[in-house]
Amino acid sequence: MRGIVKNYGRVRALDGVDLDLVPGRVHAVVGENGAGKTTLMQVLAGHVVRDAGRILIDGQEAAIGNVPDAHRLGISMVHQHFMLFPSLTVAENLTIGQEPRRLGLFDRDEARRVVRELSDRFGRDVEPDARGSSLSVGALQRVEILRALYRRAAILILDEPTAVLTPRESDRLFGTIRALAAEGRMIVFVSHHLDEVVGHAEQVTVLRDGRVTARLAAAETDVTTLARAMVGREVVIDLERPVVEAGRPVLELHGVRAPGLGPVDLVVRAGEIVGVAGVAGNGQAELADAIAGLIPIASGRIVVDGRDVSGSTVAERRAAGVCYIPEDRYRRGLAGDASIRDNLILGRHAGKPGEPPRRLLDLDGIRRRCERVVPAFRIPARNLDAPVATLSGGNAQRVVLARELADPHALTVAAQPTRGIDVAATEFVRRALLDRRATGSGVLLISSDLEEIRMLSDRIVVLYGNRIAGEVAGSEADEVRLGLLMAGTAAVGAPGPGMETRGPNGG
Ligand SMILES: Nc1ncnc2c1ncn2[C@@H]1O[C@H](COP(=O)(O)OP(=O)(O)OP(=O)(O)O)[C@@H](O)[C@H]1O
Ligand SMILES: [Mg+2]
Repeated sequence: MRGIVKNYGRVRALDGVDLDLVPGRVHAVVGENGAGKTTLMQVLAGHVVRDAGRILIDGQEAAIGNVPDAHRLGISMVHQHFMLFPSLTVAENLTIGQEPRRLGLFDRDEARRVVRELSDRFGRDVEPDARGSSLSVGALQRVEILRALYRRAAILILDEPTAVLTPRESDRLFGTIRALAAEGRMIVFVSHHLDEVVGHAEQVTVLRDGRVTARLAAAETDVTTLARAMVGREVVIDLERPVVEAGRPVLELHGVRAPGLGPVDLVVRAGEIVGVAGVAGNGQAELADAIAGLIPIASGRIVVDGRDVSGSTVAERRAAGVCYIPEDRYRRGLAGDASIRDNLILGRHAGKPGEPPRRLLDLDGIRRRCERVVPAFRIPARNLDAPVATLSGGNAQRVVLARELADPHALTVAAQPTRGIDVAATEFVRRALLDRRATGSGVLLISSDLEEIRMLSDRIVVLYGNRIAGEVAGSEADEVRLGLLMAGTAAVGAPGPGMETRGPNGG
């Protein structure tokens, strides 16, 4: 790619970017939120039309004006925000556009067979008949990767592929990436996890504000150098966790059951961060949604700050003190077409809890709130009336965080809060959660980033098979024991030192 330029209105997302991909090599693109990484990848994949610059493949000018052009040239992209059709099955999603046909009709058996063959070959298990809407983010991604392989991608683009994965899943993904590179493909991935960039890429391109600030051989660089090239200053990630006395319970779950969850018993106290570890798909999403009121529970009780909210609406729970940073910011956390401003007040627009709901928006109050939270959360505030969907992935996440963390509330449920945000912003979010704890809120932190869980949590519970498989104190959480619990292999009744193991009923 040579001299690529892309403007969005007055925003210059890419300002003359060069990128070189080599067959058999893995290339990483890094940079802060909004640096232009996704835009660059989208230009290559034909999703976005560049304003200037050239793309050459084997020295030949490649005419990439749209996605089918890119597909014809063997370029496929796995997006930062997955693009599967929720109502279609995995087999249908995977083969869409190049469906196997028999007598002119969609050959469902062949599509299923293709899915199984690809998933066996690349060790990426997916269920051919599952609907897109029922898949976890990890599974969605597996389908997207297999779809690219089905299209015989010679250039495979992965935009933050590991953001949604556990460390083990990430290792497996990089195993697949290695194998694909060994077949002579060109692989380029975007990541905020600088250690995996150093560990798994051969070449690194660093973007800042739409320009290349460094081009490095991964073997000759390290995490600190990369972070400095990204941010333009030193980044120190060192969080202090002052001692905080745990207070009253702000969340109690008593025998809570819902489809895909439970029974679960759990208490979070004021001034406490309780981490929820576990392999994705073991009930984490259901747990968070049940507390937030997005799915009804079948039995049991949920108590928030002393109030039974088991049957309450989302609004009532928010009034009772629940803040929610959902895992899927686009499906749950934001209204994409609505403005940044509207998204910053969603769910709080009806006025203060306890007071009668307002009939008109308090425009002055909204303005004051935006003036306070926009700089505090470093939301790029060129125009707060722009649709929130025009922000980069990480900046969109900041809008969710700003809305949920700007004011004190009894309970914060934070699901993957630092997913997809850059190093500096990650540090910011972790500090914000610790501040919550210090000011006497309780935090339930659901994260697939074990290091994050261990860094922040006072106690850690492990979800396995939709139940709590065990609990460890944050300070004693050694990785091996957590790993065993997460894999469901820690023998109940034979706990290691310092571990409380619960029976199947959580008792
Ligand atoms: N559709 C769009 N309309 C307007 N502006 C856009 C659009 N897409 C991206 N931008 C802007 O272009 C810039 C680069 O965005 P991009 O998504 O490429 O960043 P990124 O490096 O991928 O960031 P992140 O790490 O947060 O994903 C940002 O300022 C963003 O707001
Ligand atoms: Mg991006």
